[in-house]
Amino acid sequence: MRIAVVGSGYVGLVAGACLADLGHDVILVDNDNRKLAALRNGETPIHEKFLPELLQRHRGHRLQFSDNLHEAVRASSAIFVAVGTPPTESGDADLSYVESVAREISGAINDYKVVVEKSTVPVYTSEWVRRIILRNGADPDSFDVASNPEFLREGTAVTDFLFPDRIVIGCDTERSAKVLGEIYEPLTGGAYYQRADAIPAPDRASVPPPIIVTSSKSAELIKHASNAFLAMKISFINAVASVCESVGANVNQVCRGIGTDTRIGPRFLNPGIGYGGSCFPKDVMAFRAVARESGYDFRLLDEVMRINEEQRQRFLRKVRSALWTLRGKHLGVLGLAFKGGTDDIRESPALFLVQALLQEGCKVTAYDPAAMERTQEVMNSNLKYANSPYEAAHGADALLILTEWEEFANLDLERLTSELRYPIVIDGRNLYDPDVMAAHGITYYSVGRAASHPDGIPAGALKNGVMKNGLPKA
Ligand code: UDX
Repeated sequence: MRIAVVGSGYVGLVAGACLADLGHDVILVDNDNRKLAALRNGETPIHEKFLPELLQRHRGHRLQFSDNLHEAVRASSAIFVAVGTPPTESGDADLSYVESVAREISGAINDYKVVVEKSTVPVYTSEWVRRIILRNGADPDSFDVASNPEFLREGTAVTDFLFPDRIVIGCDTERSAKVLGEIYEPLTGGAYYQRADAIPAPDRASVPPPIIVTSSKSAELIKHASNAFLAMKISFINAVASVCESVGANVNQVCRGIGTDTRIGPRFLNPGIGYGGSCFPKDVMAFRAVARESGYDFRLLDEVMRINEEQRQRFLRKVRSALWTLRGKHLGVLGLAFKGGTDDIRESPALFLVQALLQEGCKVTAYDPAAMERTQEVMNSNLKYANSPYEAAHGADALLILTEWEEFANLDLERLTSELRYPIVIDGRNLYDPDVMAAHGITYYSVGRAASHPDGIPAGALKNGVMKNGLPKA
């Protein structure tokens, strides 16, 4: 099928490359000519596993790049709209890019088209897109608007697209459901997974994926509700971690205990310094705004956001209580990206903390395997950068772990302690076993677990000779 994908950001680029890999002819449309030139030259503008391979495989054949939306629409049966929907000041999504694309699509319709919303948008957007296209002169029979939410995580977006848990298509007509069904048939029919050149399956893949056909409004809500639920799961476990800290329980043990209940599940139950990224913060806020506008006061979502914010403050307090005073302290920081496996720093809790520590007068040297360049573009020059975790730790009063990169979980602890001025590690992602750290002579603070100290006494457990929980020391 001939498909146009409008917008070459994370979602558009990944969707375009993956749709080409399914065998479709894709035109990726963007109005940023520098970006298009870079793509044509073989560059991959984002850090995403398997994306360079897919672009290389299809560039110039099944995947074309264009700034001409009009022509791309005329040449295509389906138009995927994947433009940005940034938050406005009040938290709802700014849909002006979606609107202007809808206007332009309208003037280009020459035969039946399915306009597919791929951007994360509030409920009713498909209805608005339909109205805009009609208002600009298109025949009501010449198009349908459908919603096809994406559930792509940064870093694993390609495999999330090709090996999804499910495919949701929100279609209000049978003819549009048929077109979308055909587009995804190589996945839902399983043919893609038989191919020798298919992208390798991730660990948990269960193929072929089911296709869930809903109304367009339901599909729009599925996207917002999924992200809000996942953010809630993270805030929930972060709140449990705070209780664990107060009573001296271990949140990892609690997670194992509750996550094995199949109704709850172990994933997205990792406590830390809170969620960040381009989706969760924006989508929880937007869903909150959508609910408010529809007359429902979804206060649970306020609490999800509050806990997330508090989690960063708690971590700052932890750093303060580990080091007593902050001004002039030299801190090594591991991680700037909002999560491991990506160079994205949007709404990164790690960056928020680094900024706060710099403001407190700390000297910070940071290392991130992918996000340092992007950080340099937005951060003040006080932040220093290192070429390795050990260089970041060199001479530091403490080392902070802020992003869950795999390589940070496998450090050579002896080398680390020899680099640090004081063997103190404050881990915002629970990457280490407190006992192992103590055995290496490291005073170790983490989230939702008692701090451990080389002499065996949990650091911070004693306050005037009594344990923090009020019990006298045994
Ligand atoms: C998310 C959704 O997972 C995806 O389905 C949607 O399409 C876009 O938003 P993404 O933003 O790429 O994807 O990252 P994700 O892996 O979901 O992590 C989001 C944030 O939550 C990160 O800051 C991460 O560190 C944090 N997180 C995640 C936790 O703190 N604990 C967890 O258990 C999981």
